[in-house]
Amino acid sequence: MSRITIVVDNQTARGLAVEHGLALVIDSSAVRFLFDTGAGAALLPNVAALGIATDSLRRVVLSHGHYDHTGGLAALAAAEPGLAVFAAPGVTQQRYSCHPGQPARELTMPENCRHALETAAERHEIAAFTEIAPQVFLTGPIPRRSGEDCGGPFFLDSACQKPDLLMDEQALLLGDGTLVQGCCHSGIINTLEYCRQCAPHIPVRTLVGGLHLRHATPERLRQTADYLLGLNLRQLVLLHCTGEAASAYLQEKLHCPVHVARSGETYEC
Ligand SMILES: [Fe+2]
Ligand SMILES: [Fe+2]
Repeated sequence: MSRITIVVDNQTARGLAVEHGLALVIDSSAVRFLFDTGAGAALLPNVAALGIATDSLRRVVLSHGHYDHTGGLAALAAAEPGLAVFAAPGVTQQRYSCHPGQPARELTMPENCRHALETAAERHEIAAFTEIAPQVFLTGPIPRRSGEDCGGPFFLDSACQKPDLLMDEQALLLGDGTLVQGCCHSGIINTLEYCRQCAPHIPVRTLVGGLHLRHATPERLRQTADYLLGLNLRQLVLLHCTGEAASAYLQEKLHCPVHVARSGETYEC
């Protein structure tokens, strides 16, 4: 049994600070992790409002390098100098989103957070599927093998020439079958297939996090729902970048509870 508290999200249930970002407190049976840090401004005020002690947040997982998941790291490091940070290689690289007819928008981890990462008491580079605590696993880079349509307008250069496959993205898997993801740019089917390959003894039962389906085509939504229907899931806790229409679609199609969750809520998994 694990418990997940939503500290930062795009929406709140309890009057907390809201921003485009994600931060979760994950309590597994053995240990607590902070999963992502939001975009920066909301993390510490929300931690305080929820009565969470910052010294319980010394283990930090970064799901990927985008600013809306890493931007609170500097403030946390200032409050708690002894951080142990778990991130995949490439998390600090420059990156952009490019929408047609609009200037490139930088999504890189903020400079002060990069400094906090580089000077953290412990920095763990997760280059492969790894058990980081008893029954707590990080996937490391997630291969895109299923053919899932999970591309996006992401690039490594401001000229938008070099596609960014977000190879620094990782998900967190608990031994009780809870799978937590930040934005899921790698695609939820790819992520679940990779977990099945690396941890075939852990059937995934609960999905928590952003699924990045806001711009998904109807075909992708149908394929996603069909795949999830085959998994015997207990519940979905949808956050951040999943998208309203996609969340409604999954609520309609899946047979398990599908929660459109907000900060201030806690879920037992
Ligand atoms: Fe995000
Ligand atoms: Fe992202």
